Amino acid sequence: MGNRTIGSIPCAVLSRGGNRMFFKKKAQTIQLDMDRIPQHIGVIMDGNGRWAKRRGLPRSAGHKRGADILEGLCDYCNGLGVKVLTVYAFSTENWVRPQKEIDALMDLLYGYLLQVEEKFRGRDMKLKISGDISPLSDKIKAAIAHAEEVTAPGKRMILNIALNYGGRDEIVRAARKLAKDCKEGKVSPDAVDEAVFASYLDTYGLPEVDLIIRPSGEKRLSNFMLWQAAYAEFWYSDICWPDFKDADMERAIYEYQQRDRRFGGV
Ligand code: FPP
Repeated sequence: MGNRTIGSIPCAVLSRGGNRMFFKKKAQTIQLDMDRIPQHIGVIMDGNGRWAKRRGLPRSAGHKRGADILEGLCDYCNGLGVKVLTVYAFSTENWVRPQKEIDALMDLLYGYLLQVEEKFRGRDMKLKISGDISPLSDKIKAAIAHAEEVTAPGKRMILNIALNYGGRDEIVRAARKLAKDCKEGKVSPDAVDEAVFASYLDTYGLPEVDLIIRPSGEKRLSNFMLWQAAYAEFWYSDICWPDFKDADMERAIYEYQQRDRRFGGV
């Protein structure tokens, strides 16, 4: 498939008159190259708390809205041919938040898991959970197992929810499992290379992350996909996650397509 025009973004054009400066909006046409759609997009869904605070709402309202917009964005990415959308829902560091907020997030995730079958119906999508789910409640663990099982036939796109996920924790867990396999003689230490190590990660079988999106003005990786994002392009935006729209995703992908990815080459 060739290029197609699917939208436009406003951009500020600066001009001078005397000692004044003027900004005016100019429409810039975006043409997404359908042959260069990122296979794997990772999103750090940041800014929910600030979004809620500005509206005089509890932080949990920001998380709720942040979860609600996922459905439309999945459809948008799925339509473009994105293979994996990984969303950072709860990090290994988030346990230090107030218990009330943790409970609200877990309830939200649980509710989402219960609805996954219905939400994914007719979309050819599969759900995957990455992260250490061992400390989660039995109720949530059972809902994860069910949601992954019923969506397993989905072939077109994977929604990968990073839950109690930390890149360092994932690497340590992988190293522990690999060390055990070496000790038991299942793997020779001399045979361990990047591919073997990656097969012990939560994301085994998924393509490397091509594009990482972080809204809300922060410019940190925050322990997200440390291994998988080795050659990812980053895209930041000031808007808070609950306000994130298809047009923002489109712009992020467009800017990703303008980058020259050399993977260490010239
Ligand atoms: C960071 O923003 C966001 C989180 C720690 C949680 C993100 C979780 C969701 C959007 C819900 C996910 C649910 C499903 C079903 C996938 P923040 O609240 O720390 O933002 P702040 O920096 O403005 O306080």
